[in-house]
Amino acid sequence: MLPLIFAAFIICFCSFSSLAELQSFQQPLKSDGSLSFLVIGDWGRRGLYNQSEVALQMGVIGEELDIDFVISTGDNFYEDGLTGIDDPNFYESFTNIYTAPSLQKQWYSVLGNHDYRGDVEAQLNPILTQKDSRWLCMRSFIVNAEIVEIFFVDTSPFVNDYFTNPEHNYDWKGISPRETYLANLLKDVDAALSSSTAKWKLLVGHHAILSAGHHGITVELLQQLVPILQEHNVDAYINGHDHCIQHISSSHSLLQFLMSGGSSKAWTGDVDWWNPKEMQFFMMVKVSCLWRLHKLK
Ligand SMILES: *[C@@H]1O[C@H](CO)[C@@H](O)[C@H](O)[C@H]1NC(C)=O
Repeated sequence: MLPLIFAAFIICFCSFSSLAELQSFQQPLKSDGSLSFLVIGDWGRRGLYNQSEVALQMGVIGEELDIDFVISTGDNFYEDGLTGIDDPNFYESFTNIYTAPSLQKQWYSVLGNHDYRGDVEAQLNPILTQKDSRWLCMRSFIVNAEIVEIFFVDTSPFVNDYFTNPEHNYDWKGISPRETYLANLLKDVDAALSSSTAKWKLLVGHHAILSAGHHGITVELLQQLVPILQEHNVDAYINGHDHCIQHISSSHSLLQFLMSGGSSKAWTGDVDWWNPKEMQFFMMVKVSCLWRLHKLK
């Protein structure tokens, strides 16, 4: 069987909402007070490179868990995002691939670096939601599901190399001036986290903070984002970018690093070995009062 290349979380009860500059969406809990969702990343390849096989397995596990929504950690459309709102890749890599009944739920997506290589604003356009009602993609926003609050953060503009290396061609519309954009984003995330009263606080972004994969750590996020996450006791940072799944526990904080970026073209054996005491591979996470990690056998 294919490895199930995503994480699933199950969460129970409680309430509250937060006020911040970032737009916040309410996600209702199930009638029994629980919530479950899948996380995928690095996927849109018109079904190729095992995207369809992973989608099939998501449909199966999505039904078993009766999922409430799906999170995408970005790199939604390869190789270069969407060319515009009429790009057929939207149907070919999303609508026509995730067809299982259990996946006909709300999707919450951030942008990955590949999404910035096309018409970046296309994926943010509400017209796509008219084409497929599951679609919601914003640069940075909040999903408030009472017991858990999920903060989605646009990480590509943090990466210096994308601005300095001439081989990159990114659509930075809406980002410049970059320093102001990043300063405002960090301020908004800080404010939203400090007003959050949710029991669990999760952050989602495309780039890894820590990773034993091909791309490795993102120094800019380590320096600029991690202090904010630690100050506000964020439970986990969830990302894609490296095409695999990983769980890294830092030895000096409770913050957990979960990677789900293997939803097509998964990398095998492309590993920069990490301290084994801090590193695990996983299939599924359950969150209620405790984290329970179901390790890959
Ligand atoms: C699909 O996944 C299988 C099993 O992991 C792997 O052997 C194969 O190379 C993958 N195919 C592509 C096109 O990535």
